[in-house]
Amino acid sequence: MKTILITGANRGIGLGFVHHYLALGATIHATYRDANSAEQLLTLAEKHTNLHCHCLDITDYDKFHQLSATIGLLDLLINNAGYYGPKGYGFGNTDVNEWRKVFEINAIAPLKLVEALHSNLSQSSNPAIACLSSKVGSMTENTSGGGYIYRSSKAALNSVVKSLSNDLSPQGFTVVALHPGWVQTEMGGPNALIDVATSVEGLTQVIANLHHHQSGQFLNFDGKQIPW
Ligand SMILES: NC(=O)c1ccc[n+]([C@@H]2O[C@H](COP(=O)([O-])OP(=O)(O)OC[C@H]3O[C@@H](n4cnc5c(N)ncnc54)[C@H](OP(=O)(O)O)[C@@H]3O)[C@@H](O)[C@H]2O)c1
Repeated sequence: MKTILITGANRGIGLGFVHHYLALGATIHATYRDANSAEQLLTLAEKHTNLHCHCLDITDYDKFHQLSATIGLLDLLINNAGYYGPKGYGFGNTDVNEWRKVFEINAIAPLKLVEALHSNLSQSSNPAIACLSSKVGSMTENTSGGGYIYRSSKAALNSVVKSLSNDLSPQGFTVVALHPGWVQTEMGGPNALIDVATSVEGLTQVIANLHHHQSGQFLNFDGKQIPW
C-alpha cells in the first residue's frame, strides 16, 4: 500500500482524502497548521497508527527539510492546502497584500514542497504529485471575468504543474492539476454543488487510474480533461 502526504488535511477536502486513504490502509502523512482547528484529524491519529500528523504552515519553507527527513519514501504528494482570499470584490478593489498571500499559498508553496520532497518521492517506483487547482484558473473557462486574486493564483499553479511535468516526467513522475468540483467546504460555501465525499471519491479514482502519459494534464474530479 502507498505512502501519501496530504497538506491542509485538518478540514474540507484534505480531511476527506485522509478518511478515504485510511480506509484503504495507506500510510498517511497529514499536515495541519493549528492543533485547535485539527481536533478531528488528531483524534483520528490516536486510533490509527498509520496516520502521522505534522504541524506545518506550507509557507514555512525552513521546516520542509525536517519534514523530508522524518517521512522517508513517499509515493503520492497531494498539494491540497489552499486559500481563496477576499470574496466579492470587483475590478478596482484588489487588495495587493491579500493577493501576495493567496499567490504564495496556492502557487509558490506547492512548488517549494515538491522541491523539498523530491528525494522522498524519488524512492517510489511510481511517484505521483496531485495539485488541487481550480477550473477558475483555466483561461478557456474564464468567460465571466473578476476573481483576479484566486484565478491568477490557480493559473500560476497550473503553470507550475506543467513545468514540473516537463521536468520530472522523464524521471518517472506523474504530475497533474485536479479540479475538485464546487465543493461544500469552508471555501466552497453551503451553496456548492457537491459534498466532500463525492468530490474525494472522484478525485481518488482519478488518482488511482492515472497513467504516466497523463502527466501534465488538468483533470476534473470526474476524470474529464479541462482546457488550460
Ligand atoms: N471547495 C471548493 O469548491 C474548491 C473548488 C476548487 C478548488 N478547490 C481547492 O481545493 C483545495 C481544498 O479546498 P477546501 O475547499 O477543502 O478548502 P478549505 O475548507 O478552506 O480548507 C483549506 C485547507 O488549506 C489549509 N491552509 C490554508 N492556508 C494554509 C497554509 N498557509 N499552510 C497550511 N495549510 C493551509 C487550511 O488550514 P487551516 O484550517 O489551518 O486554515 C485548510 O486545511 C484548495 O486548494 C482549494 O483551492 C476547492
